[in-house]
Amino acid sequence: MQKIRKAVIPAAGYGTRFLPVTKAVAKEMLPIIDTPTIEYIVREAMESGIEDIIIIVSSNKNSIMDYFDNNFELETQLKTKGKMKELAQITDLPSKINIHFIRQHEQLGLGHAVLTAKTFIGDEPFAVLLGDDVYVGNKKPALAQLIDAYEKTGASILGTLEVSDENVSKYGICDPEAVVEKGLSKLKGVVEKPALEDAPSHSAIGGRYILDSKIFSYLETQTRGAGNEIQLTDAILRMMKEKEVYSLDIDGRRYDIGSKLGFIEATIDFALKRDDLKDSVKALLESKIK
Ligand code: G1P
Repeated sequence: MQKIRKAVIPAAGYGTRFLPVTKAVAKEMLPIIDTPTIEYIVREAMESGIEDIIIIVSSNKNSIMDYFDNNFELETQLKTKGKMKELAQITDLPSKINIHFIRQHEQLGLGHAVLTAKTFIGDEPFAVLLGDDVYVGNKKPALAQLIDAYEKTGASILGTLEVSDENVSKYGICDPEAVVEKGLSKLKGVVEKPALEDAPSHSAIGGRYILDSKIFSYLETQTRGAGNEIQLTDAILRMMKEKEVYSLDIDGRRYDIGSKLGFIEATIDFALKRDDLKDSVKALLESKIK
């Protein structure tokens, strides 16, 4: 079985749910406290054993490339001033993983973004991590859980979560055929953003995928779907006729940081976990509630 070594992180979207700031700032650079959201995603990939990451960017996302590059001027300054802790904060990540970039010239949808990574991925199964979904895995990172399941099935796997009636139409929804073991199901279908009455289940794709490289041949011929976009979900559905696809319920907490409330919640929860902040943030919240 081929090892999962490469991951794709699409980051070319406009970020319209976070206007006005995303007019000039890449939404992936919005910080949860002091760390850009995309770094949490990159770290999850790293901690799941990924060796190479390809980030799909668009024209106004240069700050993402700068962020994962060395900043020699700042490093020299910090060294000269003996600020070694701060120096470690900016040099920690780039040295640990290979990060590559592709520019997507037109934003035609998630499926189209993933297709731009075809040459980089080649003929091996790979991971996709969406930047709006930040996970705190219970025992393992979300992607590591998917990789474990891939090692059992040898097939494509979609990371899933249960959603309520009012949220079904915001996600790709799975149509399970059979439960293989607790949390792991073989799928017979998947549909992007269905109306509640058309949804085959409440099992939603939560922004993590392991995909067979065969997906590229379907993406190449994929016509536009929901929202008039080239949807990854639609290509996965077509691939199911030829290749098995599974879903795995991710064991952990997911934050939808593409929504304002999800972003605020992530900020509070992450602050409450940090030794340098938890006591003062807790006291602050308690004083606000009173
Ligand atoms: C994308 C996918 C959808 C998935 C969702 C998870 O939609 O197309 O299938 O459920 O991410 O966040 P988006 O939220 O980008 O519209």
